[in-house]
Amino acid sequence: MKKVGLALLGAGTIGSGVLKVLKENGEMIKNREGLEIEVRRILVRDKNKKRNIPVDPDLLTDKPEEIFLDESIDVIAEFMGGEMPAFQYIRDALRQGKSVITANKEVIAKHWDELEDEARKSGAGLYFEASVAGGIPIIKSVRRSLQANNILKFMGIINGTTNFILTRMSEEGRDFADVLAEAQRLGYAEPDPTADVEGYDARYKLSILSTICFRNRVAVDNIYCEGITKISADDIEYARQLGFGIKLLAIAKKQNGKIEARVHPTFIPLSHPLYAVRDSYNAIYIEGDMVGNLMFYGRGAGDLPTASALVSDIVTACQNEGAHHRTRLDEEAVAFEKDWKDEYYLRLVVSDKPGVLAEIAGILGRHNVSLDSVMQKLRGNDKATLIFITHEAHEDWINGALTEMRSHPSVISVESVIRVER
Ligand code: NAP
Ligand code: HSE
Repeated sequence: MKKVGLALLGAGTIGSGVLKVLKENGEMIKNREGLEIEVRRILVRDKNKKRNIPVDPDLLTDKPEEIFLDESIDVIAEFMGGEMPAFQYIRDALRQGKSVITANKEVIAKHWDELEDEARKSGAGLYFEASVAGGIPIIKSVRRSLQANNILKFMGIINGTTNFILTRMSEEGRDFADVLAEAQRLGYAEPDPTADVEGYDARYKLSILSTICFRNRVAVDNIYCEGITKISADDIEYARQLGFGIKLLAIAKKQNGKIEARVHPTFIPLSHPLYAVRDSYNAIYIEGDMVGNLMFYGRGAGDLPTASALVSDIVTACQNEGAHHRTRLDEEAVAFEKDWKDEYYLRLVVSDKPGVLAEIAGILGRHNVSLDSVMQKLRGNDKATLIFITHEAHEDWINGALTEMRSHPSVISVESVIRVER
C-alpha cells in the first residue's frame, strides 16, 4: 500500500467534486489501486467562506507557502482557474519535482512549452485530462490508444456551457442570459463565463487537443475564434425552418502540411449526430488514417464528471513517478491554414421593394458566391428578411460581398453570418 500526500489548490465547484469522489470512492481506489490518497492541505482565497461540502477547517489555508514548504505533500492538484497565479504555482511545483494534476486549460494552452520543459527537467509529471471535455478521457485515448494513427481531423462540441445555452434556447425558447445564469448555478461555467460564451474556453481546449492529435504546437493565436453571443432566437428559428440546428463547434484538420483550427457557431443538419449532443454533454469525432472514425461522448462540465478525470490523473501521477507520458512533438515546421472554405448562412433586413432579392443575389454572384437556398419573410413596415444558404465560399469572397451589401441602399442591416457544416 502506497500512501500519498495530496494538496488541492482550490475548493470551488471542481475542488468540492474531487473531495466528494475521494470521500465516496477513496476506499475502493485504495483497495483496487493499492494507493491511499490523503488530502493534507487545501488552498483557497477565503478560509471563512461557506463550502458546498463539509471540509476540515484545519486543512484550509490561504497561504501558498504553507503548501510549497510542506514536505509531506507529494502531489499537487490545481483547480483554481485563471492564468495567474495558477501558472506560477504549477511551474513552482514542477520545479520542486512534485507532479501536478490540473483542470486549467488556459494555463496549459498558453504555457505548454514552458511547463512541459519544467516537467522534463525535474522528472515530475504534468497531467491535464480534465482540461479538455470534462469527464471524457480524450487525452489519454489519443496519447495511449491512437499512436498507430495519423490523426487527420477532429470536430466536436467541447464547451458544456454554450451547448447547454444553445440547447435550452432552441428547445425551450429561453433567453440567453437566463440560461447562462442556470449554467453558472449548475457549476458548468468558468469563474468568468465570458470565456465560455466568447469561445475562448473552447479555443484553449482546441489548442491542447490539436497539439496532442497533430504532434505540432497549435498555439491559441493560430486558432480562429468566435463565440455565441450574437446568436439570436431568430437565427435558431430560421435554422430550424431550413433543417439545421446551431452548435458551437471546434474543428481541426491537418492536410498538405497545414493545420486549420477554428471555433465558431455552426449550422449543422438536424440529422447530424452532433445535433443530438444536448445540454452540458460534449462529443468529439476523430478521424485517424488507420482506425477510421471514432466518436467520444460524455459530460463535458460539472463537478463529478470533471473530478472523475482529475482523480484518475491523481492515481496515474501517484503510480507513475519518473515514467511520465509526454507528447513528443514533430520537429518539422507546420503552416497554419487561414483561408478555408465554408458554406454560409446570411440573414439580412432589406427594404421590401421589387428587384431587391435579385440585386443581393447579384452581389453574391459577382463575388463568386453561389446559392444553395433562399428564403424571404415579410416583416411589415416595408421591410423584409432575406435568408441565404450559400455553397462553399472563401471567407474573402463572403467578406467582399458583405461589404458591398452593407453599402447597398436597400440593405437596412446584415443581421447574421454563420458558417454551415454538413
Ligand atoms: P470555482 O468554483 O470558482 O473555484 C475556484 C477555487 O479556487 C475556489 O475555491 C477559490 O477560493 C480558489 N481560488 C481562486 N483563486 C485563488 C487564489 N488566487 N488563491 C487561492 N485560491 C484561489 O471554479 P471551478 O468551476 O471549480 O473551476 C476551477 C478550474 O477547473 C478552472 O480552471 C476551470 O476551467 C476548470 N474546469 C472547470 C470545469 C467545470 O465544469 N466547472 C470543468 C473542467 C475544468 P474561494 O473558494 O475561497 O473563493
Ligand atoms: N466551462 C467549461 C465548459 C467547463 O462549460 O465546458 C468544462 O471545461
